[in-house]
Amino acid sequence: MLSTTIQEKLQNQIQKEASSSHLYLAMACWADVKGFSGVAKFLYDQSDEERMHMLKLVKFINERGGHATVPALESPKKEFDSLMAVFKSILEHEIKVTESINDIITACLKENDHSTNNFMQWYVTEQLEEEQMARSIIDKLDMIGSDTSSLYLFDKELGAHNVE
Ligand code: FEO
Repeated sequence: MLSTTIQEKLQNQIQKEASSSHLYLAMACWADVKGFSGVAKFLYDQSDEERMHMLKLVKFINERGGHATVPALESPKKEFDSLMAVFKSILEHEIKVTESINDIITACLKENDHSTNNFMQWYVTEQLEEEQMARSIIDKLDMIGSDTSSLYLFDKELGAHNVE
């Protein structure tokens, strides 16, 4: 059975994952209408992944005797200054999500809630990958600068999820 504190924290995390999904969907729309179809595909997929992160938490709460609430979400902004601005804000966002996951784990350790701690370790690994991905994309965009032919290739690569 989940403690009230842990359930509240997991519920809060559901909201964060759902907001991430919304945010990435808004970014995907922006990239799509700007003609960056590869980036758009990547972001549509990221949005789906975040929904899956949310769903895992929903099911975990319900399976552990709690009752998950589906959160209300604010509409994310529609316009972004550049691809660099998009990926910088993704990195910033993911760093905050990582902090929130670490906070849940600290609470689990305090309460000796080993099973929630164990469940949350999947998110720790996932966050590392996501932050790393955002950083490598930012580095790549930095190198590309205003070189439009490199940008074209980058867009194609990202659409195929081949960016290292
Ligand atoms: Fe599921 Fe990117 O946080």
